[in-house]
Amino acid sequence: MKHIFLYGPPGTGKSTVGKQLARNLKLPFIDLDRVIETNAGMAIPHIMEQQGESVFRDLEASALKNLADEKESIVALGGGALLRDENRAFAESYGKVILLKAEVNTLLQRLNTDSNKRPLLAGDMNIKLSSLLAKRAEHYSSFPMLIHVDGKTAEQNVRQVQVALGRHHLSAMGEYDAIVGRVSNLTNFPMQNPIIVTDVNVAKFHLEKMQNLLQAKFIIIPAGEQHKNLETISLLWKAFLENGLDRKSTVIALGGGVLSDMTGFAASTYMRGIAWVGVPTTLLSMVDASLGGKTGFDLPEGKNLIGSFYPPKLVLADPHLLGTLPEAELISGMAEVVKHGIISDPELFNLCSRGLDWVKDNLEEVVKHAMAVKIKVIEEDPYEKGIRAALNLGHTVGHAVELVSKFMLRHGEAIAIGMVAEAKYAARIGLAGVGLVEAVTESFKALGLPLQIPEAMPREEIIRAMRVDKKKNVNAIRFALPVEIGKVELVEVTDLESVLE
Ligand SMILES: NC(=O)c1ccc[n+]([C@@H]2O[C@H](COP(=O)([O-])OP(=O)(O)OC[C@H]3O[C@@H](n4cnc5c(N)ncnc54)[C@H](O)[C@@H]3O)[C@@H](O)[C@H]2O)c1
Repeated sequence: MKHIFLYGPPGTGKSTVGKQLARNLKLPFIDLDRVIETNAGMAIPHIMEQQGESVFRDLEASALKNLADEKESIVALGGGALLRDENRAFAESYGKVILLKAEVNTLLQRLNTDSNKRPLLAGDMNIKLSSLLAKRAEHYSSFPMLIHVDGKTAEQNVRQVQVALGRHHLSAMGEYDAIVGRVSNLTNFPMQNPIIVTDVNVAKFHLEKMQNLLQAKFIIIPAGEQHKNLETISLLWKAFLENGLDRKSTVIALGGGVLSDMTGFAASTYMRGIAWVGVPTTLLSMVDASLGGKTGFDLPEGKNLIGSFYPPKLVLADPHLLGTLPEAELISGMAEVVKHGIISDPELFNLCSRGLDWVKDNLEEVVKHAMAVKIKVIEEDPYEKGIRAALNLGHTVGHAVELVSKFMLRHGEAIAIGMVAEAKYAARIGLAGVGLVEAVTESFKALGLPLQIPEAMPREEIIRAMRVDKKKNVNAIRFALPVEIGKVELVEVTDLESVLE
């Protein structure tokens, strides 16, 4: 079984971060030093004193190897646990190693207040620690997954680790994991009588591999928003029946947001609800649509008018699947990613501003960051009673522009336009800080996203569309407006004309 190993110099907070990470991911926590002490029947300082470091390292190596048979756990390692090549090889083949790194001053502060006895640092802690760090500098910096813990709270460091791993457990609406990984990880997830639902485009590239992997049956539906309707839902219900799905079966949604919205809805209603798993294949669905449990379909009167809150049992986002996504779809998905950056992740926003080529080369990092933002918001407010409305940034104007364009503009293109318009409005009313509009427009330009409402698009129609959008109260519309990169505020607006000035 694969573990998550936390490693690094003494004082980096491996145990504190490890315990919280284990709670967040609903996994067991193992402190390897405590295991060694239990096995030896004495405290580490005594082992060192009475038997020497080499015996301690032998005990450490054997405690580590015993983890091979343990179920997946978060493991905090001693500061020198992977110095031996065999230990490192073991840890890297039985899991992922995250290295926590800190400046010497941070470590000194923490260690001075730490009551744990650390035999290797006995005496003048400053000198001992500096020399230990110098000796192990090359070793520590050779681990590729590295987290800087200086100046951050334990909670922030846990979050950094989760983003780096692409690992989350959601529990505000249903209990499920959201993972950035490889589709091959799906074989670790127990599924009865699985069936894959995919669309004609995705099927061409990814169905065969998935089918071979899961030995599953499949259903192919037409692609595109124009098919996100009751007719396709009926087609799914009938196909579920024909394929003998019962209440214990699992449906796997392999596709973009259109497909997962419909598959999730069909699963939520078939036999009063059967399990479904999301395997998103567009950037937008990886960082947005597949997360949060909203499922549904469109009516001729409007988008997503029928739906349910029905979370999946697992979301597995494999960025490799994006290799076949048309570039225009990728760019469109980037609008939601930038939006997540503006809402609460300035680092993500800065990464996006490096432009499309950088994004294409670093899709895994982009997906991991953006997924974490959405998860944080929906865990706080799963049923959109408050802060989840922040995710509507750019959507009030954007949805209307999308609608008036008769869907000639892609969703992401329309919301990029919406975000620029809303940022300009926020600047005009003195809410947005200096330079925000420029930062947002520069970022969209670098990604090839549009900035302006098309000249020919009648402003009255956009305003009318904003008013009839299903989520809005007719008198005042609640906008999520940017204040600075990393912060939005919800603001009631009555004078809609002023938003489009
Ligand atoms: N449930 C939610 O919380 C939520 C949130 C945001 C958006 N949505 C919904 O998501 C939908 C938009 O989703 P989308 O942008 O993913 O669009 P989409 O599902 O229509 O996919 C876009 C196009 O890309 C194709 N495609 C998908 N993956 C591919 C791949 N890997 N390789 C090649 N082609 C591929 C699809 O067949 C389709 O033609 C909208 O209906 C929107 O309402 C839902």
